[in-house]
Amino acid sequence: MEKKLRVGVLGATGMVGQRFISLLEDHPWYEVVTVAASPRSAGRTYEDAVGDRWKMATPMPEAVRQLVVMNVNEVEKVAAGVDFVFSAVDMTKEEIKAIEEAYAKTETPVVSNNSAHRWTPDVPMVVPEINPEHFDVIPFQKKRLGTKRGFIAVKPNCSIQSYAPALTAWKEFEPYEVVATTYQAISGAGKTFKDWPEMEGNIIPYIGGEEEKSEQEPLRLWGKVEDGVIVKAESPVITCQCIRVPVLNGHTAAAFVKFRKKVTKEQLIEKLVSFKGLPQELGLPSAPKQFIQYLNEDNRPQVTADVDFENGMGISIGRLREDKVYDYKFVGLSHNTVRGAAGGAVLCAELLTAKGYIQAK
Ligand SMILES: NC(=O)c1ccc[n+]([C@@H]2O[C@H](COP(=O)([O-])OP(=O)(O)OC[C@H]3O[C@@H](n4cnc5c(N)ncnc54)[C@H](OP(=O)(O)O)[C@@H]3O)[C@@H](O)[C@H]2O)c1
Repeated sequence: MEKKLRVGVLGATGMVGQRFISLLEDHPWYEVVTVAASPRSAGRTYEDAVGDRWKMATPMPEAVRQLVVMNVNEVEKVAAGVDFVFSAVDMTKEEIKAIEEAYAKTETPVVSNNSAHRWTPDVPMVVPEINPEHFDVIPFQKKRLGTKRGFIAVKPNCSIQSYAPALTAWKEFEPYEVVATTYQAISGAGKTFKDWPEMEGNIIPYIGGEEEKSEQEPLRLWGKVEDGVIVKAESPVITCQCIRVPVLNGHTAAAFVKFRKKVTKEQLIEKLVSFKGLPQELGLPSAPKQFIQYLNEDNRPQVTADVDFENGMGISIGRLREDKVYDYKFVGLSHNTVRGAAGGAVLCAELLTAKGYIQAK
């Protein structure tokens, strides 16, 4: 790319926003030129607005420290200086829906981490290795919005990334019933142990809205494009329990699966490790070389050892074994704020750029 695209991060001061800022440091295609957050932060330098809330393990990139934070609600003003935006604002669902559409209508593509538009029929919700063909609804969405280049694309919830990729790799064996329990990190709630000390040594068996998302969103990923909208798949039926655990980063899932077709453990592992998608074929900057790794050791995947596999963009699967009640059971792990949030959105943007949907204004 001759000249980098100018990027804005909406919600740049939050947990996911900070992850965007970190991942985009030295990105070969994108340069963060605008940071926006609530009116509380607007007008202050990024460094000052974030203050002691910086939650990344690496230091705040020099290039953003002195940027003056803009008010997310001043849509025209923010949109004027950027080619596209990443969205990670924490507002009500209705507010997020409205503001993301407002940005799209300024002819600014929005790649969102938020859940507000995940079920809008003509908004693609994409994991680039799984369902890149869903971007085909974008022309229909633009028609509805009355835009030439503005649109919204989203990525799914962080919880599903530790089991949905495996189920996708096993599609030809026709999984039809799945039971999953997720063990979710506190960064998924935008928190560290410093701001949530009650989580030390604790487990909370409730994450608002998470079980429905974990059961339903994989079906939308596996859905088809029909008449310009996504029609979700009907199978497999998935039931989930989502549990908050005292882990900083990394969502683990323990899952049981029934298959219509007979399949061996060796076949299942082979499908996992050979599973590739467009990001790997196109060599996108943030694409993991190996999307899914299989770990043979009985005590893997472990959060501390495996969460950063492929810079947090890869999925780790282990403990695959036959089951007496279901056919197989396994454990999966993914990085919730990288693959499950900002990194997944950056990879979506890279694929949208490679396909010509995102260009310089
Ligand atoms: N954390 C994860 O792993 C994860 C994963 C998937 C999806 N998500 C979703 O991503 C979004 C952000 O999550 P987060 O964990 O990063 O939250 P967060 O740390 O609380 O950050 C929220 C961001 O939104 C801004 N904001 C809050 N209220 C606002 C308002 N009324 N108007 C404009 N901006 C406002 C904040 O700005 P100020 O600093 O100025 O207050 C901040 O930049 C949420 O919708 C969340 O559900 C999070």
